[in-house]
Amino acid sequence: MDGNGRWAKKRGMPRTFGHAQGSENVEMVCEDAWTLGIKYLTVYAFSTENWKRPSDEVNTLMELFLDYLTDYHDKMISKNMRVRCIGDRTALSEDIQNAIAVLESDSSANTGLNFTIAINYGGRDEITRAVRNIVSEGVDPADITEETITAHLDTASIPDPDLVIRTSGEERLSNFMPWQTAYSEFYYTDVLWPDFDMETLKDACRSFSRRSRRHGGL
Ligand code: IPE
Ligand code: MG
Repeated sequence: MDGNGRWAKKRGMPRTFGHAQGSENVEMVCEDAWTLGIKYLTVYAFSTENWKRPSDEVNTLMELFLDYLTDYHDKMISKNMRVRCIGDRTALSEDIQNAIAVLESDSSANTGLNFTIAINYGGRDEITRAVRNIVSEGVDPADITEETITAHLDTASIPDPDLVIRTSGEERLSNFMPWQTAYSEFYYTDVLWPDFDMETLKDACRSFSRRSRRHGGL
């Protein structure tokens, strides 16, 4: 979800205004994704590298996460959404950790959109934590397969992404699911995240449907 800061700047507003607008946009995109038949949607909200931003901005983002997780709790549950968070949550405030735990537990039997929020998520950090867990479980190195690693990632219960959409004209992965995106398709758009809408999502899906995916085969 890139481009919140630039969206605000274009309007002569502080970056945090863009984050608030970007946060508000998430609910609609979930709705649109479900309408289009998408079963799994992940949003990259905060990376392990985003702590480098000025502390005011980080604090505002953390407040927005807590607000989102609590304000939209009932709505997400009533829409039958299954909510998960990925990333190292131990670095998040107790309030946010609790809100995540409540939402994950309250939505655990839901069968609608599988909505995943990546907060304090970094692919390299995720793999590092997975390796630590594998070692601490005493797994014999000879028994470690790709499936072992996949099963120890934060994303163990969700499929690899078919399509990764990046907004705001940037064309890089920025530590988003480096393991899981080995055969994902990528779609880049200049649209800034707060402006991302059904039309943009449809354009991305149309582009995806024209791709020929061979997964390394013929
Ligand atoms: C949102 O957009 C990304 C988050 C970390 C929440 P940015 O804050 O990166 O916006 P730009 O790239 O400065 O426009
Ligand atoms: Mg950015």
